Amino acid sequence: MKICAVVFLLGVMIHGTTSMIHTLRYFETASSQISGFPQFVGVGLVNDLVIMHYDSNTKRLVPKQEWMNNVTEEEPQHWEDETQVCLNLEQAGKVSIENVKQRLNVTGGSHLYQWMKGCDWDDETDEIRGYYQDAFDGEDFISLDWTTQTWVASKPQAFATKLSWERNGVAARWKNYFDHVCAEYLKKFMRYGEKTLKRKELPEVWFLQKSSSSPVTCFASGFYPDRAVLFWTKDGEELQEDWGEILPNHDGTFQTSVSLDLSSVPTGDWGRYSCVFQLSGVKDDLITKLDPGLIRTNEKKYTPYIVAMACVLGAVVCALIGFFVYRRCKAKQLSPQSSEPEVMQELNPQPPETQ
Ligand SMILES: *[C@@H]1O[C@H](CO)[C@@H](O)[C@H](O)[C@H]1NC(C)=O
Ligand SMILES: *[C@@H]1O[C@H](CO)[C@@H](O)[C@H](O)[C@H]1NC(C)=O
Repeated sequence: MKICAVVFLLGVMIHGTTSMIHTLRYFETASSQISGFPQFVGVGLVNDLVIMHYDSNTKRLVPKQEWMNNVTEEEPQHWEDETQVCLNLEQAGKVSIENVKQRLNVTGGSHLYQWMKGCDWDDETDEIRGYYQDAFDGEDFISLDWTTQTWVASKPQAFATKLSWERNGVAARWKNYFDHVCAEYLKKFMRYGEKTLKRKELPEVWFLQKSSSSPVTCFASGFYPDRAVLFWTKDGEELQEDWGEILPNHDGTFQTSVSLDLSSVPTGDWGRYSCVFQLSGVKDDLITKLDPGLIRTNEKKYTPYIVAMACVLGAVVCALIGFFVYRRCKAKQLSPQSSEPEVMQELNPQPPETQ
């Protein structure tokens, strides 16, 4: 799913910098006729950590981190207000999914309509970048090009929406929302969750090899945050551009791995190779020299376990990012109806009121 790729790229962008890009993301999913799956689910994430959750079964927006309760110090009604906005959005989602179905000329059956939106904040330059994109049945529909402040229609059927949004200055209203509301909340949440979100944990690094003819995998697990890269070097020179995918561990830390085919390299030369781990915001690299004596080759027990774990966690991440969506429900004082629901105006027969 493309939304996954966007999130993954963020990890890649940090290579070689010490400034930290923080993200606030809202994923929302409206679905029809998917048994066992709520018709509407929304999640909010800060730096890829789930901080709030709403779904149409519970009908309540709840904090998913202890420190998110701090928001009520300044806004005592925060969770009630935002729950109300979520309830409204759930209704709007029902209408939207039907309208997109019509637009795309699809009928019946199970369908998903997803939104991803949010902002990035560079804590060194204070630069803000906004994101908005939506997708129907996993395929991009329309998205915001932040640089040009125009809409990108990924399907011909989205072109009318693009024209309408450009005519009505929808991008400017989103920009205002991202630059102010979203950025303010992101900074606020970073402050509340500082201990958790700004901690740095270095991983343990292992070398794994299935059999003597298999590539050698460098596996790093237990690091935080997930803005990290892992790569091989030969004589200190970086060997590849492809960094492994970063997957979550269930304890809130992350893991990643990167493989190298050494089948044509004599074992005597293996000492020239190292595996380098870089964590965003940490100056010193964690360099582990390849030592054939350190390679774990217990293919029966160890490697399949790691591989299975990686597959399961990978699936969880994609399911989370792809299917669980969160709608950023703004507090009353920040004009909940003015900054968001207009995205669905075009698709709703009765657009929500705007101020
Ligand atoms: C919509 O789909 C139906 C059945 O698949 C087809 O007969 C009809 O021509 C389609 N309409 C448009 C506007 O594409
Ligand atoms: C968050 O709330 C706790 C408990 O009320 C308090 O001790 C802490 O200082 C608050 N943190 C921030 C950053 O406001």
